[in-house]
Amino acid sequence: MIVKPVDGPLGATIEQLDVSVPMDDDTFGQVLAALGRYGVLRFPDQRLDPVSLKAFSERFGEVQTSSRGDKTEHPGVSTLSNIKRDGAYIGSPDAGQDWHTDMSYRDVMGFVNVLYGITVPRRDGKVLGGTEFSSMHAAYEGLPADIKTRLATATATHDFSKFWEHMRRDKNSPRPPMTEEQRRRRPPVTHPLFLTHPITGRKILYANPGYTTRINELPERESDEMLEFLFQHQLRPEYRYVHSWTEKDLLIWDNLGTIHRAIADYRPDEHRHMIRCQVLATRVFEPGFAEPAMQHLATA
Ligand code: SIN
Repeated sequence: MIVKPVDGPLGATIEQLDVSVPMDDDTFGQVLAALGRYGVLRFPDQRLDPVSLKAFSERFGEVQTSSRGDKTEHPGVSTLSNIKRDGAYIGSPDAGQDWHTDMSYRDVMGFVNVLYGITVPRRDGKVLGGTEFSSMHAAYEGLPADIKTRLATATATHDFSKFWEHMRRDKNSPRPPMTEEQRRRRPPVTHPLFLTHPITGRKILYANPGYTTRINELPERESDEMLEFLFQHQLRPEYRYVHSWTEKDLLIWDNLGTIHRAIADYRPDEHRHMIRCQVLATRVFEPGFAEPAMQHLATA
């Protein structure tokens, strides 16, 4: 495989790798190393179906099975689509349409998202519906030293309902009110505010506007002010990168080292259709799992 970094704080294209074929351990170590280092990887011109998408995803850890849009006969493979059939969306039409990182609201955090582009919207030849990322390695490094010291051991609360209610209230989302069952299954959780990344060994800022509601060790007002500062800081233009889609792109990204949003700049009649797996950070924190990738990074 050939790794071609894009010109920016994040992103690389991986050429000459057919992801529908099981990877040997060395190749997987190289992919994991590139994922830690570049945060977002594009594998162009892949031929995938739900079965091969899930098989590739499972190399990285356990695939989440209870997503919105997860109504195919393939548990764990969700459809993101604004296409309607018989009056109903065939998948989730507005997934991720503001800044967040997946599954920070779960006790086991999210590790990798795996998204395959089937239909990409275009207008007058211009590609729409990109996915934008921001680097949380860069955001941590760019923080003022006194904040790094003061919040070195701080924890933050993440709440699934924050993003859901924001989409309904501010983004005209067709999603229904959260059910009691959803609230019961997704109570708020706590994670460290700064994490050591399991592949790079560097610190990252683990907070996002979508789900983070509170820095637990600060009084409420101070927490609100600090979060406001962190949310602005982590979106500085120099940390950001937009992926512009081509059909048959497979895009994977590191949900620990980045935050992202789907750009909703297309109309209902301009179709965008993708399938996705979301991988939990079950295996990546296990001793030894990231070791080959760390060795690749050390010798690169
Ligand atoms: C997501 O947040 O996983 C969806 C991103 C996208 O559709 O571009």
